[in-house]
Amino acid sequence: MSLQHFLTLNDLPQATLQDLINRAIELKALTKQGVIYEPLKNKSLAMIFSKSSTRTRVSFETGMRQLGGGALVLTPNDTQIGRGEPIEDTAKVISSMTDGIMIRTDSHAKVETLANNSSVPVINGLTDDYHPCQLLADLQTLQELRGRIQGATIAWVGDGNNVCHSFMNAARIFDFQLNIATPIGFEPRTDLLEINSSNVTLVTSACDAVNRADVVVTDTWASMGQENEKDGRVQAFDGYCVDDALMSKANKDALFMHCLPAYRGMEVTASVIDGPQSVVFQEAENRLHAQKALLEHLLA
Ligand code: CP
Ligand code: NVA
Repeated sequence: MSLQHFLTLNDLPQATLQDLINRAIELKALTKQGVIYEPLKNKSLAMIFSKSSTRTRVSFETGMRQLGGGALVLTPNDTQIGRGEPIEDTAKVISSMTDGIMIRTDSHAKVETLANNSSVPVINGLTDDYHPCQLLADLQTLQELRGRIQGATIAWVGDGNNVCHSFMNAARIFDFQLNIATPIGFEPRTDLLEINSSNVTLVTSACDAVNRADVVVTDTWASMGQENEKDGRVQAFDGYCVDDALMSKANKDALFMHCLPAYRGMEVTASVIDGPQSVVFQEAENRLHAQKALLEHLLA
């Protein structure tokens, strides 16, 4: 089998993605029953973090350990990456000693270069453009709570960012409707709107997006790397906070999702994220289970 990477959801066929979600649910149950399952004994995952992380780091490190292997954290500051060693050389060296590489960085092109020079699978743990691992966990959560993903109506309210882009790919692949409401100037990438146009609609009003939605999703207004834009963004996103009034326009039993970290009082009110419709901590926990399924598929 040729080397398989996971840089975006498009890297795997829909049937394989669905298998991963089903497997994640099985692995979750096994873990909760205390079953020891170690298909990755003696295997190691190198994790390159050029940006901060709580969930991605803890879930990959714990996931590798539960599967019998181990993970090592590499940051630019304490590796030669920070001193300018080319990505190509870094990929060849790390992949000669490990069984997989997870990378979180800014430019998606860097991750592609890493994958093109790696002899082991490369997993995208977030770039400025995509966050596919988050979608595996979110789709697992939706399947657990609603039984199916296909046919749902999901409203994305806020920034047309990396997580939004992965939701757009997921909408086409899993055939759900995604209504996106962003302020003008903060829309998702035009090429992704075109490619995913069968399942994605862009609207300007948050109310229009959530009308009859089964799920309402948002994310921070200022992603990592956009810290300097924060004040301007707070003004630009006025009217895009997911609050109780907005949630009341969605279906009565609509779920609220957020990849976390969240900023209460900005993109979402505390009453919504800490309220009964919120499933954010189930999503967070599912990062562990979904990525274990992914690691088993790519590395075992
Ligand atoms: N959702 C997510 O990726 O969280 P972290 O930034 O904490 O990894
Ligand atoms: N859009 C956010 C997601 C964090 C998990 C960011 O890129 O910072």
